[in-house]
Amino acid sequence: MASTRAAQGAQVLVASNRGPVSYEVREDGSLHARRGGGGLVSGLSAIGPDAGALWVCSALGDGDREAVRRGVGEHGVRMLDIPADVHADAYNGIANSVLWFVHHMLYQTPLEPVFGAEFRRQWASYEAYNRAFAEALAQEAAEGAAVLVQDYHLCLVPGMLRELRPDLRIAHFSHTPWAPDAYFRILPDDIRAQLVWGLLGADQLGFLTWRWATAFAECAQAVDESIGREWPQQGPRALTHGGGGTPGRRTRIGVHGLGADAEFLRARSHEADVEERITALRGEIGTAPDGSPRRTIVRVDRTELSKNIVRGLLAYRQLLDDHPEWRERVTHVAFAYPSRQDLAVYRDYTAEVQRVAEEINSAYGTPGWTPVVLHVKDDFARSLAAYRLADVALVNPIRDGMNLVAKEVPLVSDDGCALVLSREAGAYEELGEDAIVVNPYDVIETARALHTALTMPQGERAERAKRLAAAATALPPARWFLDQLTALNEPQPS
Ligand code: G6P
Repeated sequence: MASTRAAQGAQVLVASNRGPVSYEVREDGSLHARRGGGGLVSGLSAIGPDAGALWVCSALGDGDREAVRRGVGEHGVRMLDIPADVHADAYNGIANSVLWFVHHMLYQTPLEPVFGAEFRRQWASYEAYNRAFAEALAQEAAEGAAVLVQDYHLCLVPGMLRELRPDLRIAHFSHTPWAPDAYFRILPDDIRAQLVWGLLGADQLGFLTWRWATAFAECAQAVDESIGREWPQQGPRALTHGGGGTPGRRTRIGVHGLGADAEFLRARSHEADVEERITALRGEIGTAPDGSPRRTIVRVDRTELSKNIVRGLLAYRQLLDDHPEWRERVTHVAFAYPSRQDLAVYRDYTAEVQRVAEEINSAYGTPGWTPVVLHVKDDFARSLAAYRLADVALVNPIRDGMNLVAKEVPLVSDDGCALVLSREAGAYEELGEDAIVVNPYDVIETARALHTALTMPQGERAERAKRLAAAATALPPARWFLDQLTALNEPQPS
C-alpha cells in the first residue's frame, strides 16, 4: 500500500467542518445518507479511488452523531464526534459569528462585537474543536502525507498539526475574503496572533484572489514585524518566519481562483427535472402585456448576511421607480436559501428579505404580474432552471470570497445573460471586464446597472456571456484541487 502511494505521490487528507456526506435518522430508526457536491468532492474524485485519500470532517447534526456511534460511514470519510456544545460554540459562536463577521466586515460597531468572558469561553471551544481535527489528522496520516485544511473553521489546525507531525506537508485554503488589517484589529491581539500563527503552521496558504492573499500578509506582518515577505512580481510568493519553533521557515502564499464546473452544469441543467421547473417558473414569471415573455433578473444565494439581498431588492424597486416602462415587463426571480438558521441574526435577515419582497409586490404588483418571485426552499434543479431563463444575473454581495453564482449563470443561461456584479466579490477580479460593475451599497447605481443590463443589445449580451463563461471555467474544481496538491508537493527552496 505504502509503495503504491509513493509511486502516485503522497497520501492526501482533506479536513473541513462540513463533510461530503450527512446522515438523517428516519422514523423507523434507519440512517439515510445524503451526499453533497462542490469543488472538494470533484477534486478528490480527480485523484482517483486508489490514492488512499481520507476526508476528515465534523459530525454536524444528530443524524451524523448517530452514524458515528453506530459505526456507519463512507469509505474514505472520517467523521469526528465532537461534543455538540463544543461544536456549537466553535461553529456558531466563533466561526460564523466572529470570524465570518470579521472577514466580511459585517459588524455594526457601535454595539458589537464585545470580546468578554462569553467570547473567551467560546474561543476555548474553538481551540478544542481545532485540536480534535489536528489529533485525528495526526493519527490518520501516513508518513509525509499531504493535508489540505479548509476554511475559517480550522485556522488553528495547521500550527497544531505541525507540532504533532512535522513530517507532513500541510496546506490551508481560505474560501472567504480575508479582512484588511484595519478591520482585523477588531480582534483581541492574542487572538489575532493565534490565528496568524495557526495558519503559518502550514507550508502553503491558498486564497481565492490576490486581494485576500495580500490582506492576510499585511495582517500577519502587523501581528509580528519579524515576519518577512517575499513578494516578487513574478514567481512564487511567501512569508518567511520562525513559526512552529523552526527558524527560517517559509509559508508559500498561492492564489487558486476556483471556477465553475462547465461539463457538470451544462449536462445537469438539461435534465428532465430542470425542464419541468422551467415550465413552472415560466408560469410564475408570466408574459408582458404585449404577449412576449417577461424579462428576468435572476439571483440565487444562500441567505448569508454578506449576500446583500435586501439592497438588491431595493435597487429593483428603484429601477421600477426610475423606469416605469419596465413595470409588467420584468420579473425579479430571487432564490434565497436558508443557511445557518441556528443564528437569530440569519433568521431575522431571511425574514427581512421576505418582508421587503412582499412590500414591493404589494406596492407594484398587478393582477397579472408579481414583480418579485421569491423562493426560500432550497431546490438545486429550480436554481438551474432560473439560470437558464436569466436575462440578467444580479450578484451584489457586500463582500464575498469568490461567488460561484456569478460564474455559473453566464455559463448556463440559454440566451446569454448580462451580469451585474459587485466589485467586492472575488469573482470581480476575473469577470470585471465583461460585467456591469457596482458598488454594493449604492442602490441607485445598482438600479442603473440593472437598466443597462436589461437594455443591452442581444448580440453584445451573448458575446459578453461567452467571454464570462470562458473566464468562469478557467480553473474547474478538479484542476483547482490538483494545482494546490502539485504546489504543495513541489520542493521548497532551502
Ligand atoms: C460559504 C463559504 C465557505 C464555507 C461555507 C460554510 O459557502 O464560502 O467558505 O465553507 O459557507 O457553510 P456552512 O453551511 O457549512 O456554514
